[in-house]
Amino acid sequence: MTVLLTGGAGYIGSHTALSILNSGKEVVVLDNLSNASPEALTRVEQLTGKKAPLVVGDCANREDLEKVFSQYKIDQVVHFAGLKAVGESVAKPLMYYRNNLDATLTLLEVMQEHGCFDIVFSSSATVYGTIQEMPLKETFPLGCTNPYGWTKFMSEQILRDTGKADPRFHIVLLRYFNPVGAHESGQIGEDPSGIPNNLMPFICQVARGRLKELAVFGNDYPTKDGTGVRDFIHVMDLAEGHLAALSYAEKHAGVEVFNLGTGTGYSVLDLVHTFEKVNQIKVPYRIAPRRPGDIATCYADPSKAKEMLGWSAKRSLEDMCRDAWNWQKNNPDGYRR
Ligand SMILES: NC(=O)c1ccc[n+]([C@@H]2O[C@H](COP(=O)([O-])OP(=O)(O)OC[C@H]3O[C@@H](n4cnc5c(N)ncnc54)[C@H](O)[C@@H]3O)[C@@H](O)[C@H]2O)c1
Repeated sequence: MTVLLTGGAGYIGSHTALSILNSGKEVVVLDNLSNASPEALTRVEQLTGKKAPLVVGDCANREDLEKVFSQYKIDQVVHFAGLKAVGESVAKPLMYYRNNLDATLTLLEVMQEHGCFDIVFSSSATVYGTIQEMPLKETFPLGCTNPYGWTKFMSEQILRDTGKADPRFHIVLLRYFNPVGAHESGQIGEDPSGIPNNLMPFICQVARGRLKELAVFGNDYPTKDGTGVRDFIHVMDLAEGHLAALSYAEKHAGVEVFNLGTGTGYSVLDLVHTFEKVNQIKVPYRIAPRRPGDIATCYADPSKAKEMLGWSAKRSLEDMCRDAWNWQKNNPDGYRR
């Protein structure tokens, strides 16, 4: 059984590659390296003792995909490839729509031509938009607040329509909440280029003194300490969620959507204080104004994934903070050594 991971050299993709290889399946990666280093896959190989061949190419480019599907017998696909920075998507919407939608469309066409019908798609909790009712259930109405979110919304729709029209497809849509942390070895992790967009890499860079302080956006939300509440999920739990989704896709035709979150919301200050306690290091922060578009609270109802995939998140906030810092300490410059 061979699984193609588009965007598999990235943060979530490399951790998922490790889990899939350890489960006994083979992995092939297609990545254009626009936001990743091939070193991530070298490390995955060192950790698993198994190779995940990397094809450097673009998922929106038919020839690159044809090359992968002709060279390897691909049984299943996990489609991670995409641009993911919300702010950048507001500034460069065409780049986001072109890359993320073209990648999904071209991939589905080439899969169909090559008789490969199992696909797991990286969607996001961002498709729930500004809904206030928590926890978020898969049945809630969708709506987005930025072009990145719309690319996920539209890709979900493209996949749903494709599954409806061609019953050979087995499609699983996974809505991730807030992935953080790293593999417990500290050998692979999140490696943003430039100033991080996401909270945990930012905290890590403040802790190591590369950035002066963390800006906490808003402390007047209706939450226990006034800061935003999110459903942080350990990236290895998320990786294992993909294994469960691939097993599900093997057996089930049609389209199914699952939240991948822990079901527990922690505040930004919970994360900061837990990080400080677990790692015995200070994280200076200041309170800044709320960011437009941010909501007070966001956490999943993960019960559908538990019932139908037999998956639930196991790792604690302490694990997330310890593993993120372990990766950062071991690799102060990420994969650039
Ligand atoms: N990290 C998060 O917080 C989060 C949350 C929800 C959903 N997601 C989604 O999960 C997926 C993986 O996220 P990640 O955090 O690992 O991001 P990442 O940027 O680390 O990984 C994405 C990978 O896709 C590659 N890529 C981008 N466009 C490509 C293309 N056209 N062809 C080939 N490769 C391409 C990049 O080089 C990168 O390696 C993305 O689709 C992202 O939108 C991420």
